[in-house]
Amino acid sequence: MPRVTIPQLQERARKGEKLVMLTAYDASFAMLSDEAGVDILLIGDSLGMVVQGFDSTLPVTIDQTEYHVQCVARGSSRALVLADLPWGSFQESPEVAYRNAARLMRAGAGMVKIEGGAPMVETTRFLVDRGIPVCAHIGLTPQSVHTLGGYRVQGRGDDAADRLVDDAKALEAAGAGIVLMEAMPAAVARRVTEALSVPTIGIGAGPDVSGQVLVNYDMLDIYPGRKARFVKNFMAGAPSVKSAIEAYVKAVKDKTFPGPEHSF
Ligand code: KIV
Repeated sequence: MPRVTIPQLQERARKGEKLVMLTAYDASFAMLSDEAGVDILLIGDSLGMVVQGFDSTLPVTIDQTEYHVQCVARGSSRALVLADLPWGSFQESPEVAYRNAARLMRAGAGMVKIEGGAPMVETTRFLVDRGIPVCAHIGLTPQSVHTLGGYRVQGRGDDAADRLVDDAKALEAAGAGIVLMEAMPAAVARRVTEALSVPTIGIGAGPDVSGQVLVNYDMLDIYPGRKARFVKNFMAGAPSVKSAIEAYVKAVKDKTFPGPEHSF
């Protein structure tokens, strides 16, 4: 089966179909998620916390990400493979970002994700102009945990909300094909979604977005650390990991997840 393309995802979102993204770091989870109907497999730098045991995403390197992208690409055949550019691999200059993004594309990614708002506009344009699709990541950007002062909801208050809408529009104008929004009031995520023509994917961003993403170790209740409000345990009552992922896919598509209890 051919892989899902970015234009297909954009078209499905335009028609109102919800898109389903889930993290994966290895071939087995990638295969199960692919078969369960996940549209986009994200090799997130959450890798650093749920797989490597660090207390932030900052220690993850480009070498490690490249290896996990290879694993996920080998294990899947249908989903779009989306790879996080880890901290320190893209901020220095657009050229450095290009070199590292090219490594991830060569490893099997079909798109790379870049954390950050307005300061990442130039880099986004540089990559997209050179054939590397970019997913922007705004709102709570965990690579900036020390600047943000913790894993806090972003976009509260009129000025902060306006800034997120402006950042999203600038990133779309620079060529971002998807905008991912983490931990912000549902009303702000709705404003961003209405302002863009590319799909938005939310995590802790409420229901009024084009699709949802969760960390697989969270929604399968494997990660023993603190759970964010936006996480739902889909393993509860499920007979197998695959059926838990299928339940997540169904819940996103029929709009029963996220509920108000998962939103800000
Ligand atoms: O690293 C990751 O898994 C992510 C998601 C939380 C969106 O960026």
